[in-house]
Amino acid sequence: MKKRVLAGFLAACMVMSLAACGSSDSASEETNETTESTSDEGGKSDGAVKTVTEGKLTVATSPDFAPYEFYAIDEDGNPTLAGFDMDLAQYIADYMGLELEIITVDFDGVLSELQTKSVDLGMAGLSPDPARESIMDFTDIYYMGGQSLVTVKDNADTYNSFDAINNPDVTVGAQTGSIQLDLANENTPDADIVSLPKVTDIISELLSGKMDAAYIETVVAQSYQKNYPDLEIVMEVPYDVEGSAIGVCKDNPELLAAVNEAIKAATEDGSLDQYIADATDLAAGETYEGLLDDSGNVQ
Ligand code: ARG
Repeated sequence: MKKRVLAGFLAACMVMSLAACGSSDSASEETNETTESTSDEGGKSDGAVKTVTEGKLTVATSPDFAPYEFYAIDEDGNPTLAGFDMDLAQYIADYMGLELEIITVDFDGVLSELQTKSVDLGMAGLSPDPARESIMDFTDIYYMGGQSLVTVKDNADTYNSFDAINNPDVTVGAQTGSIQLDLANENTPDADIVSLPKVTDIISELLSGKMDAAYIETVVAQSYQKNYPDLEIVMEVPYDVEGSAIGVCKDNPELLAAVNEAIKAATEDGSLDQYIADATDLAAGETYEGLLDDSGNVQ
């Protein structure tokens, strides 16, 4: 009698677990359906996309890279995070129905935040370098830019080619962790290559004469050139991975798809062009070139 009860109980358990299995299958089908219907309705996430913090889109950036991301000085004299990556981040968060949280770190920190899956996205004028594919996924390209060799006006006739700077007596800068550092090592391996955590540090070392030349993204060099006209772009540097993409925390295809959808919408409705134009104007005004502490104060 006792045995039969137990057997009956086990049989019931099996049925229940099979049912659980079945229901989890149908649940995942439902999720797929939600994602599909989501795209038709214009991208509201409805909880279908998982993010590191529920209800939030957490984005890492490195605000030393105008006009992508930088601190503009607002009317009250306070540095505020600006740039077309930041506007696009807000657009994507709104599109997905999520609250935006931005985390500011140096550029190599953006890479490690993505690698450790501490953030959902890295938006930092990131080049979709295949060497990074083991630590992040990339969205479609949202901006096309090139690379340049930069120096100051007085040295523009001296440091104007790879040959001219490929010499241990010439100090050549690039940002830590960036593809510009790879370009420095590939094109001018004999130079005294110095990597610094911030592009803004590189700019000030160029201006103070501590650094002779630097590899910088063209649109960024042009932006800082407006505030520091002593900077001179001497040549374009060929690089085969063109354009910028958003880095997405690996193995989250739903998030990747949703962000691609939002990028497409921002491109098609003209928002992205507007953000680029606004950021370009804003970066030509007063900016702050350091990081802020957690309370948003100048460090
Ligand atoms: N495009 C370059 C790279 O991906 C540099 C990006 C630097 N971004 C920044 N916000 N400082 O390596």
